[in-house]
Amino acid sequence: MALYSEVVMDHFMHPRNVGVIEDASGVGTVGNAKCGDIMKIYLKIENDVIVDVKFETFGCGSAIASSSMATEMIKGKPISEAMLLTNQAVAEALDGLPAHKLHCSVLAEEAIKSALKDYYDKNGIAYDKSLFPDCEHCAHCGE
Ligand code: FES
Repeated sequence: MALYSEVVMDHFMHPRNVGVIEDASGVGTVGNAKCGDIMKIYLKIENDVIVDVKFETFGCGSAIASSSMATEMIKGKPISEAMLLTNQAVAEALDGLPAHKLHCSVLAEEAIKSALKDYYDKNGIAYDKSLFPDCEHCAHCGE
């Protein structure tokens, strides 16, 4: 069996939503301290809906495929749905990732959450801090 699914290879070779949103509503940058990979997510939010999303990922193929898939999964969705996106859901949508690459999909979940948190902070919107447990421990947030 191939190490990577066809879906992973497709999103790695042809990543969706690559780029920058200049007037983004929220931006989130997270890094994995062990591998050094960095993922940056830009969100454009209107009326609580993610109307556009772009990413820049400096990382492995799985991280790029995870970013691509994750952005596709939250585009056009309300914030409430994007908040529920888990790394497991991203990995499943990719038809699985090798066990030692699962952490790459975690970066996608964390980057989206970090961008949403940035949106809340910038707009003075109150939020439940317990929904962002990783942010408190993530040295890369707000870079
Ligand atoms: Fe670092 Fe994949 S090896 S994110």
